Amino acid sequence: MIVDLVLSNTKAYINNKIVDCSLAINKGKILKIGKEISMPKAEAKINLKNLLVLPGLIDVHVHLRDEGKTYKEDFYSGTASAAAGGVTTVLDMPNNDPVTMSAENLRNRMKIAEKKVLVNIGFYSEFPRNTRETEEIVREGAVAFKLFMAEQVGGLNINDDYALLEAFKTVSRLKVPVAVHAEDKATLERAEGKLKRSNRNDIEAFLKAHSESAEVKAVKRLLNIAKQTSTQVHFCHISTEKGLEAVIDGKKLGLPVTCETTPHHLFLSTDDLRRIGTLALTMPPVREKHHTIALWNGVKNGWIDILASDHAPHTLGEKKAKLVWDVKVGIPSLETTLPLLLTEVKRGRLSIADVVRLISENPAEIFRLKGRGYLKEGNNADLVVVDLDKKYRIDATKFHSKAKYSPFDGWTVEGKPVKTFVNGQLIMDEEEIVAKAGSGKIIRRE
Ligand code: DOR
Ligand code: ZN
Ligand code: ZN
Repeated sequence: MIVDLVLSNTKAYINNKIVDCSLAINKGKILKIGKEISMPKAEAKINLKNLLVLPGLIDVHVHLRDEGKTYKEDFYSGTASAAAGGVTTVLDMPNNDPVTMSAENLRNRMKIAEKKVLVNIGFYSEFPRNTRETEEIVREGAVAFKLFMAEQVGGLNINDDYALLEAFKTVSRLKVPVAVHAEDKATLERAEGKLKRSNRNDIEAFLKAHSESAEVKAVKRLLNIAKQTSTQVHFCHISTEKGLEAVIDGKKLGLPVTCETTPHHLFLSTDDLRRIGTLALTMPPVREKHHTIALWNGVKNGWIDILASDHAPHTLGEKKAKLVWDVKVGIPSLETTLPLLLTEVKRGRLSIADVVRLISENPAEIFRLKGRGYLKEGNNADLVVVDLDKKYRIDATKFHSKAKYSPFDGWTVEGKPVKTFVNGQLIMDEEEIVAKAGSGKIIRRE
């Protein structure tokens, strides 16, 4: 048998250990992991010269835009950015133009993506206006639902607890997870209104409006609904100490809840936000130091399940609006997640096992992405080759994303993704995209 590809001379993270081995890849799958001598003949062979091979990142929180927002990002530029960051699967958020919230929207979005994506992509849908359409959306292949609690985005009235309860019952029956942006709309509006009335439109005012209690309130409200419906709830970008405590309380009650945080909430604090300005403005915002310490503890002791980028690209003009309330929130971060985390491995704060658990294994388990997240015979050959000794400065002007700025611009990092393989195909090689648009696969919920 002649297989498609053999990667020889690697160190690879397999079964919780780093082992010296070679990998044979055929028809997009990992066919064999073993000693070089046991490898089948191959059409192509790459000597990885002892570089480390990890399962590709599964980034469960990415805003790829496209459709009405291609000026910010499109499926090609966004997934090029993913491939450059070692990300082999992304889950795309639904706050697009149009909002992904019907089977028809979703079908259309998949059709556009199919021809453009460089990595695998699964889709979130917002809840439809009519609960009966929920099942259709799932049949169309949505991987999960997204519920944005900070303002009305989807078709479900977020002020209405009964409507939320009914929607949760439906998704619970369909066994689809719901990812929640947990900031309470009423709390935000009340605080914002007051600040605006006193002509406050600075970063401090934004921080005041997006309080810890806005996060806690939304988490508690959702936990209460989850309790009544046993819905699988995943809390996006948990950013505060008490927000995390509320999620942990839910977990201790045995509820099927999980949570993520982002690199910006871990690595940046309000001091950085004040120094950098609105370029670093996100929702929820980065927090004071004691929150970041609590989040790091949550990462280390396993309460935080996933690290996701919340890649949210905007134009520079949008980021620099005069009034803070008009600034588009979010940062492009697909290309900085892995180097930032690998740097912490070098410093001893994280182990390789922590990193892989948080960015590949848990995402695959929680969102039930079969055949991904682990380097294992029979799994899809989604992998990233990293050079742990490569020290370099983050240069946002070189990003593949359309958004070429970053709060991490100029940071020195150690550890770089140098090759990204998606379904066995080399997509990124030394910062270059070497594959055609459409090389990635659409992942539909089975
Ligand atoms: O910072 C953010 N950006 N938070 C959100 O909730 C939305 C996102 C976006 O789409 O830009
Ligand atoms: Zn969000
Ligand atoms: Zn987001």
